[in-house]
Amino acid sequence: MSAAQLHRGRLLWFEREPEGADDTEAFHYIEDGAIAVAGGRIAWSGDWSDLPAAYRGRDVVDHRPHLIVPGFIDCHIHFPQGQVVASYAGSLLEWLNTYTFVEEQKYGDPEHSERMAGRFLDMLLAHGTTTAVAYGSVHKGSVDALLGAALKRDMRMVAGKVMMDRNAPEPLTDTPQSGYDDAKALIGQWHGKGRVEVAVTPRFALTSTEAQMEMAGALAQEHPDCLMQTHLSENHREIETVAQLFPWSKDYTDIYDHYGLLGPKSLFGHCIHQNEREIARMSESGSVAVFCPTSNLFLGSGLFSLDKMRSVTPNVRHAIATDIGGGTSWSMLRTLDEGYKVLNLQGQRYHPLRSFFQATLGNAGAIGMSDRIGKLATGYEADFIVLDSKASPAMALRAETVSTLSEELFLMQTMGDDRTVAASIVSGVTVHSLS
Ligand code: GUN
Ligand code: ZN
Repeated sequence: MSAAQLHRGRLLWFEREPEGADDTEAFHYIEDGAIAVAGGRIAWSGDWSDLPAAYRGRDVVDHRPHLIVPGFIDCHIHFPQGQVVASYAGSLLEWLNTYTFVEEQKYGDPEHSERMAGRFLDMLLAHGTTTAVAYGSVHKGSVDALLGAALKRDMRMVAGKVMMDRNAPEPLTDTPQSGYDDAKALIGQWHGKGRVEVAVTPRFALTSTEAQMEMAGALAQEHPDCLMQTHLSENHREIETVAQLFPWSKDYTDIYDHYGLLGPKSLFGHCIHQNEREIARMSESGSVAVFCPTSNLFLGSGLFSLDKMRSVTPNVRHAIATDIGGGTSWSMLRTLDEGYKVLNLQGQRYHPLRSFFQATLGNAGAIGMSDRIGKLATGYEADFIVLDSKASPAMALRAETVSTLSEELFLMQTMGDDRTVAASIVSGVTVHSLS
């Protein structure tokens, strides 16, 4: 763990979503680049040969021939589900009731939450994820533990206490008032402290009464600078149940809309089975649909369609995420790969430059942080990772015939995992290294 001030290697970061490999204005690629770090920020980045005199002669961490990119951002992950991954279940509601709602009860114990918070952050960093938007359990203490641990490491992290007051085991339920009070206390205690933030987090309409949905809406209105996260339109049985619970609603999206929960700070996990009206409302309100490919395949939920969304309205916002532990990998590389396959199954192409944009600056934009994270530009927070495209023997074999940046990125997303992440740097400090 050292606070080196200079990093040398190949640099890649994006300015906007590339249209394809020829869209070279959408990104910066520097073959022999340098990043100078000061006070947790990028003080300078560019060609090694242009390094300003002020930085010359300082200690250098030489990452060549590896590729340095901004740290990955995971827009939807469950802190209490690290030990739920790989639980044998047919579909969402069986998986929730059989494993998830049992496991999350353990987080009522603050010591368990503390222990798991460190392991959760270690796991993210080993996979190259430097920022995440996380669900806690229903217990306020789970979020205290996670955000406390993130603050100590100076990580940019967003988390919220799950609100649920029905259709869950009694130890996992709050009430409209206690859910509101606990979330409000978390916001007061943590939001904006260092680099941590609190998200308003009603789990989903199935586990909240109308009274709780109202309280969640009030909280979101009172704290317009907080993100709001929930689940939406993931599974057919979930959708049917929710329609029965809110019989007045036009559709699932209308429920969140009714309580004032749509908007540019709102992240909706899954969004697989929405109709055109719902997609149009998402777009109109600036809401973000979060694609969780490994989870959607594992739970048999369905195929997220970017083309369907964009055919209704081209500017609908989206993000990509692991959704651990419905998701099966902590790795955003594995997530990009499965995302590619989900889209390919539907005849939709997704170029690797777009994938790497999405996992970095794209996801930063989805959570309103593209002015701080997601680039290797001067002034940005110094969160970046070092990727090795020859990390495994099979990757090294394939890499022998790779000759372009796009081919290298595609190789890493198709075959890579945590072994590909040679190092992770957070606030300018190397917090994970394989060497
Ligand atoms: N819907 C409500 N809760 C959850 C959860 O924990 N995981 C997933 N995948 N979907 C949900
Ligand atoms: Zn989820």
